[in-house]
Amino acid sequence: MIRPAAAADLPALRALWERYREEAGGLQEDPAAWQQWMLPRISAGDVRVGLVERRVAAYVAWQALPVADGPRDLRIVELYVHPDGRGQRIGSGLLARAIDAARQRSCGRAVLTSNVHDGAVRAFAVPFGFALDGDALVLPLRQG
Ligand SMILES: CC(C)(COP(=O)(O)OP(=O)(O)OC[C@H]1O[C@@H](n2cnc3c(N)ncnc32)[C@H](O)[C@@H]1OP(=O)(O)O)[C@@H](O)C(=O)NCCC(=O)NCCS
Repeated sequence: MIRPAAAADLPALRALWERYREEAGGLQEDPAAWQQWMLPRISAGDVRVGLVERRVAAYVAWQALPVADGPRDLRIVELYVHPDGRGQRIGSGLLARAIDAARQRSCGRAVLTSNVHDGAVRAFAVPFGFALDGDALVLPLRQG
């Protein structure tokens, strides 16, 4: 099951985020800064959580960002499925929600920027229509 995140999900999201960072090689990031970014994203309806046996096991967080000369990009900033929940199409469901949001907000593109040179991430995103463009996986969206 996938649903919009609520502020009460923050502790579970934080635990997943920490695991995400550990998997990514333990990048040094400030949890307080992450929380300051995440709370407004939750309020804006830009976060979805995936549940496994009623527990938050995955999430996606996006943000519509302006582009110099055109419609905004929907940047899929974080997308993570706990290792125990992988291979059950939860990631696909979350990515589909992000693409829906990009269309609803009339974004010109959906853009993934993390782990894009990882073959598994490419195998995951390319069937949705994403293609590598520099350091991003980009899905162009038709307007209207
Ligand atoms: C990438 C990630 C989100 C996929 O989540 P998931 O729920 O396991 O993915 P799904 O079950 O929806 O997979 C859908 C398809 O993507 C492909 N895929 C997913 N993971 C894959 C892997 N490790 N290797 C190869 N293909 C993979 C497969 O084609 C799969 O279809 P199949 O199950 O019929 O074989 C998850 O592995 C993850 O959180 N990784 C670490 C964080 C990360 O890299 N985030 C950036 C993501 S853009």
